[in-house]
Amino acid sequence: TAPPLLDTHGRVHRDLRISLTDRCSLRCTYCMPEQGNEWLARTSILTLDEIERVGRVAVAAGITTLRLTGGEPLLRADIVEVVGRLARLRGPAGPVQVAMTTNGIRLPELLPGLVEAGLHRLNISIDTLDRERFRELTRRDRLDDVLAGIAAASASGLRPLKLNAVAMRDVNADELADLAAFAVSHDAQLRFIEQMPLDAGHTWSRERMVTREEILDALSARWDLTPVPGRGGAPAETWLLDGGPHSVGVIASVTAPFCGACDRLRLTADGQLRNCLFSTTEFDLLPILRAGQRPDDESERLDAMLRGCILRKLPGHAIDDPSFLQPARGMNAIGG
Ligand code: GTP
Ligand code: 5AD
Ligand code: SF4
Repeated sequence: TAPPLLDTHGRVHRDLRISLTDRCSLRCTYCMPEQGNEWLARTSILTLDEIERVGRVAVAAGITTLRLTGGEPLLRADIVEVVGRLARLRGPAGPVQVAMTTNGIRLPELLPGLVEAGLHRLNISIDTLDRERFRELTRRDRLDDVLAGIAAASASGLRPLKLNAVAMRDVNADELADLAAFAVSHDAQLRFIEQMPLDAGHTWSRERMVTREEILDALSARWDLTPVPGRGGAPAETWLLDGGPHSVGVIASVTAPFCGACDRLRLTADGQLRNCLFSTTEFDLLPILRAGQRPDDESERLDAMLRGCILRKLPGHAIDDPSFLQPARGMNAIGG
């Protein structure tokens, strides 16, 4: 069998995040400018077959989770087929897990098909429960659609179900406990995320960022928090609420980075491999995928690209470094 996807810092890679489109039905201020970005050219977007071919090579090399992201992955017309093809892949450790991070808006109509196709897990973004705040933050009046999507996900029985909220000073800092309680009522786990400097407007500042400590203070006011051990490579630290069974998580990428345990690799909708959320170099798979080679030759070249990309991975992000530069690609085109 193939050697593990090991980098030069001893990290084995098991998680590939695949962005399916850079488009989205919302315009969250921390992700995209009001008018949207200049979209990726249609001809450069990976096709269903191309995604499957990359997925097959990655899974054979030891990737055990494929997470579909965007933009908004449910905007892909062939999303059910994408899930279906990927969920059939098997690696040395058995069948792959297919997960998705979504804004939830099209879930009520699509969820039955997605579950049937083999989707294992869902993470849904919800930053506020207040309609007016939601409209300001996302520049779209669609809170009810998101709530319907979360209700559908909860009813589908897919577990664990996770809800993501970026904690933001002037937006939702006063409703963190309410968000966690909302998640509990849907048998889901709310994960609060420290905002990272990846916003379209480049307005991020460390001083305004809501920190892990503040999030924990807000939650401690309502519940006893008991840390859950055994985090592994997961980005979230988790705590039981009043002894459980429900829990909350905090993803503290800025004040408590988890880069030392990072097991992630990213593929953009236009076929570029990235070894970090913050990487400034990308590894282009399109020429390999579109060279019309024999399948074995193509797989060999894709495998070499995956390994080369991982070998160039830095030990961690440099948010605190004075020379830190935001990546040129927006969050909507990286995939979160
Ligand atoms: P799970 O497998 O369920 O833990 O999913 P996830 O948390 O990896 O994925 P999700 O798409 O829900 O992302 C939640 C938050 O974690 C987002 O803000 C992501 O940008 C952030 N995140 C995910 N992976 C990484 C990573 O490798 N590095 C950093 N710094 N942040 C990450
Ligand atoms: N910092 C942290 N998380 C972010 N997300 C989007 N932009 C940022 C940012 N600047 C989150 C979304 C979604 C996940 C994929 O990434 O809210 O839940
Ligand atoms: Fe991994 Fe980069 Fe995220 Fe650190 S910032 S955890 S190295 S993707």
